[in-house]
Amino acid sequence: MIFFIDSANLDEIRTANDLGIIGGVTTNPTLISKELISGRNAILDHYQKICNIVPGDVSAEVISTKFKDIITEGHQLSEVNKKIVVKVPIIEDGLKAIDYFSKNNIKTNCTLVFSASQALLAAKSGATYVSPFMGRIDDWDKKTASSIQILADIKKIFKNYQYKTKILAASIRNQEHIIDCAKIGADVVTASFKLLSSLIKHPLTESGLKKFIQDYKRVN
Ligand code: E4P
Repeated sequence: MIFFIDSANLDEIRTANDLGIIGGVTTNPTLISKELISGRNAILDHYQKICNIVPGDVSAEVISTKFKDIITEGHQLSEVNKKIVVKVPIIEDGLKAIDYFSKNNIKTNCTLVFSASQALLAAKSGATYVSPFMGRIDDWDKKTASSIQILADIKKIFKNYQYKTKILAASIRNQEHIIDCAKIGADVVTASFKLLSSLIKHPLTESGLKKFIQDYKRVN
C-alpha cells in the first residue's frame, strides 16, 4: 500500500518525504487556502514546488464545474509538471472531463466519492485514481454507511472487471482507517502529516527505549 500525504504545506511534505514512506501528495482547495497562497500563478508555482519534493503523483484539484472550463484548467495544471494528477469532482461534467483526460493521457483523481456506484462510474471513465472519502462517509451516516464496507465493495467491483483505476482512500481520520484500508488492499491511503507521524509512535516503544538507554548509561 502506498502512502500519500494529504497536505499543501511544504515543510510537512518535505519532512514526510524525508521519512521515506510517502509516494506522493494529495491537495484540495481547502488545503491550498490554508497556505494563504493567492493568485493563479502563485498556486501553480506552489504545485511545482511540491512536485520538486516528492517522487510520485501530486493531485491538484480543479475549481471549475463546467466541462470546457475543467478541460482548460486541467491542461493548465497538468502542464506544471509530469507528476500532476488532475483532481476532478464526480459530477456529470467532471465524468466527461475524466473521460477526455484519460483519452489524452492526462492522469486524473476522481474526488468527492461517497459510494461504490460513483467509484464504478469513475473507473468506467478511465480515472487513474478514485478517492472515496472515508472520514466524511462515517461522519455523515454511521448507521447505514460504513466507509470500509464501501471501500471493500469498490475493491471487489474493480477486481471483477479488472479496472485499472487505483483506490485512493481519502479523508482518513484515524489509524483504524489506515489498517482497515491495508487489510482490504486499498492501493493508496492519503493522510495528514499528524496522522502519518502518529503511526510511528507507541507508548511501549517510548518506555522501552528510555529503559534501554538508562541501563546502558548505568555501566558506561
Ligand atoms: C484528499 O484527496 C481529500 O481531499 C481529503 O482527504 C479530504 O479530507 P477531509 O475530509 O479531512 O477534508
